[in-house]
Amino acid sequence: MLEKTLSIIKPDAVKAGYSGKIIAILEENGFEIKAMKKIKLTKKQAEGFYIVHKDRPFYDSLTTFMSSGSIIVMVLEKENAIADYRELMGATDPSNAKPGTIRALYAKNIEENAVHGSDSKESTDFEIPYFFSALEIL
Ligand code: CMP
Repeated sequence: MLEKTLSIIKPDAVKAGYSGKIIAILEENGFEIKAMKKIKLTKKQAEGFYIVHKDRPFYDSLTTFMSSGSIIVMVLEKENAIADYRELMGATDPSNAKPGTIRALYAKNIEENAVHGSDSKESTDFEIPYFFSALEIL
C-alpha cells in the first residue's frame, strides 16, 4: 500500500553537512519527497512534537537538542513507507544499527541520532500535520 511517513534530518546531521547524503539515500531507496522544508524549532515546538515522550528521563535533553539548530522535515511516500523507512534508518542507538543504515553511517549517539521517522500510522497522523498543511503536500 502506498503510504506516507514523516522524516526529520536532525540538528547534528544538518550541522555536520550530511543532509545531501541522507536525501540521496532516501531517493536511491525509492522514497519520493512529497514535501520538504528547513526550519528551526523553538523548545516549546520540540516539546509539542515529542509529547509522547514527556515522562521519559531524556525528554528535556531531547527537546533542547531538537531546538538547538536547523532541521529538515520531509514527507516521504513509498509502498510500505513507515516500516521501510524505519529499516533504512537503523536502530535508535547507532551502536546497534545495522551496517549501511543511515544511523550507522551518520548518527553520533542514541540522542543525536541523525534522523527521525514516524513509528506507526497513528504517529504519521499526528506528525505530518504538525509540520505540513494538506496544501503543502504534493
Ligand atoms: P527518535 O526516533 O526521534 O524518537 C525519540 C528520540 O528520543 C530518539 O529518536 C532519540 O533521539 C531520543 N532517545 C531515545 N532514547 C533515548 C535515550 N535512552 N537517551 C537519550 N535520547 C533518547
